[in-house]
Formats: sequence, structure tokens, C-alpha cells
Amino acid sequence: MSTQANHPTLLIPGPVEFDDEVLQSMAHYSESHVGPSFVTVFGEALSMLRELLITSDPTSQPFVVSGSGTLGWDFVAANLVERGDDVLVLHSGYFGDSFADCFQTYGVNATQLKAPIGSRPQLPEIERMLREKKYAAITITHVDTSTGVLSDVKAVSELVRKVSPDTLMIVDGVCSVGCEEIRFDEWNLDVVLTASQKAIGVPAGLCILMVSGRAIDRFNGRKTPPSSYFASFKNWLPKFRAQVQPYSKAHGSHYAVMQNYEAKKASYFATPSPQLIRALHTSLGQILSVPLEERFAIHKETSQKIKRAITGLGLKQLAERPENQANGMTAIYLPEGVKAPELLPNLLKKGIVFAGGLHKEITTKYIRFGHMGVSVTDPTRRDIDKAIEALKASLAEVGHQQQQEKQ
Ligand SMILES: Cc1ncc(COP(=O)(O)O)c(C=O)c1O
Repeated sequence: MSTQANHPTLLIPGPVEFDDEVLQSMAHYSESHVGPSFVTVFGEALSMLRELLITSDPTSQPFVVSGSGTLGWDFVAANLVERGDDVLVLHSGYFGDSFADCFQTYGVNATQLKAPIGSRPQLPEIERMLREKKYAAITITHVDTSTGVLSDVKAVSELVRKVSPDTLMIVDGVCSVGCEEIRFDEWNLDVVLTASQKAIGVPAGLCILMVSGRAIDRFNGRKTPPSSYFASFKNWLPKFRAQVQPYSKAHGSHYAVMQNYEAKKASYFATPSPQLIRALHTSLGQILSVPLEERFAIHKETSQKIKRAITGLGLKQLAERPENQANGMTAIYLPEGVKAPELLPNLLKKGIVFAGGLHKEITTKYIRFGHMGVSVTDPTRRDIDKAIEALKASLAEVGHQQQQEKQ
């Protein structure tokens, strides 16, 4: 039995429902961010992130920094590319536009390769773009939260390594880490950035990254200083690495905060949130207590059950093709005559919170159902079944009788 106050079930694509033990970790008494017990917890959380992203390469570096997923974009744009560089942004929804906007803010030229709504850029067009111009980095939104479109990170990374091996492979995993398979070493990735509030199952407030040794070498070889202070790797990385090149040779890095914490040594650049890090530690411990394959499989099975129910109701998804469909969320077109401002409050009366549309070209035409984390993995919860039943009943109540008859 949950000890949480009665509340509507939050089934938006993040923040998600949280486990009691995770929330209780946040009620930990105040402690020093450089005290030995917190340093141990932080260090273990960083090591567990290596397990979650399946990397054993000692040159990859996990980061956990106060902020949200957006800060991950700033980390990439401020450190791994320089003013005037070209980056290729693979666009499968709203979050591609925003990542591109972030690059432009740093004077980096972002070229977007866009797919029709509900689809993703295809390998032959990506190959053509990579052969036409030298890109310092390519970005891919693993799951675009505005469309529920899943991208094939492994296949794109293989292509990049074959066609343009120096291009850094950057994955926006905000809506995928913890519910979609990611193999950092095996897939040859350079950055996976994410946030705490989705499939990682921790309240919002943490920006999480895994960065490859190759990406850190790129940072060390910069000709110009990073144009951020808080997000500069210089302030978070060790003073010296085997391959010290122009930028870090001249300026040095002052701190080695993340490496120190992982080695259980106190360190400081900017104050972390001990309570959020404790919640992360609890959640990662729970996630890793079952084989990751099982976690991904249960997200997939649940997603398929939801998608079958949606089809049964006569509804269509934005992502029509099965290979484009995310496993942690579903974006659903509203049937003719049904409006989100009527349907969503009706669902709320039944204790279910879904999200409205986000893609700017079709915002009012669809809704989003998030199915990540404990709502999917905790067998004592009935969140998903309740949501499907509520959706069916609410559609009927807002006048969508016809779809019910198709059942
Ligand atoms: C795919 C994706 N990227 C980036 C972000 C930005 O993350 P945040 O809202 O935590 O800053 C989000 C937010 O939902 C997202 O879904």
C-alpha cells in the first residue's frame, strides 16, 4: 500500500508517478554535501549510471548536475562544439527544434533533417547529408516526447561511424533512458543526456549525462573557451587526462568533481542537492535490482497492450509504423469532434492525468499517454488498466459513441 496522499494518477510523459521509497529518500535530514555519508551515496549513484547505460569503458564519464534535461543540451553546445561548427540535428518532433535553437544560441550552425510528423529521418538521407558536409556532431532524439516517435540510435550510430567517424554521436535520451535499450559502449555513443523525472523515476531537478572519452578529448582540444560558466566541463572534469591538448593545456581544469565523488572523495564546484541525489540512488538501486532486459521487455509489453487498446478504440497514433513507436509513451490522435479541453478534464474526474499535444503544427489534435517507471513495473499498481478503462469511458462521455461500437 502506498503511503502517498490520494492523488490523480500522473500518466503524462514525465514527470511520472514516483515510488514511495524514492520519495521518502527526499525526506532525508539535512546533511553536508561534502560529508562522508553523502559522498558515498553520490559516488554509488554515479557508478550505477554506468550500469544503466551499459558502459564499462573507464574513459566514459557520468555527470549528475542540478538542473533539468535542457541543461544537457547546454553542456553539449557549450563544450563539444565551437562557434561556427556545423551540427546535424535529426528531427522527429518538437525537441529537435529546441536542441537546434540551443546550438544557435552558442553560435553553432544547426542543420535540421526533418521527417514528416510521426516518422523519423531515414538512413539514406542521413548518409547523404553526412557525405555532403563535415559535421562536428549529430544529434538524435531517442524518443521525441512531442510525437512518441522512437529513433534507431544503434543503426544511426553505425552509419555515422562508417561515413563520418569524427562526428560526435549525441543522444537526447530524456524520454528514453530507463525504458528503452541503450548500450553506450557497444553502440559507440559520445553523449547520452537525460533528466531525472521520466523513466529514471526521480522528481525533476537533475540533469544526467554520460560522456565518452572521445568527447572529452574533443573538449580538451578546443581552440576557444566554453561560453558557459556553470555548464563548462572545465569546472566539472579532472585537471588532466592522458591526451591534454591545446585548450586544457593552456587553461587547465580546476576541479574533478564527478571523478572525485565516484572515488568517494569530497569535492565541490556547485552545491548538489543531497536529497535528490539520495532519491536517484534509491531509484537506480531499484532499477538495477532486476536485469535491464526484463525492464525493457515489460515496458515493451505494456506499450503494446496500450497500443492494441488504442487501435481497438478506433484511434490512430502519430507514429503509425510499429518500428517508429516508443515504448514509454503513446501519442494519440483525437477522433473527429473530440477536443482535448473536454476529454482531459473528463479523464481527470476519473483520476487519470494525460497530457495535451505539444507538436506545434498539430497541438490541439492529439493527446499523450506516458507509460514509464513504476506505473509499468510495479505489479501492485493498476495504473495502466485504470487509464485504458478511463479513456474508453471518457471518450463515450464526450460523445465518441461510434468508436465504442467498434469494440
Ligand atoms: C526528448 C526531450 N528532450 C529534452 C527535454 C527537456 O528536458 P527538461 O524539460 O527536463 O528540461 C524533454 C522534456 O520533456 C524531452 O522530452
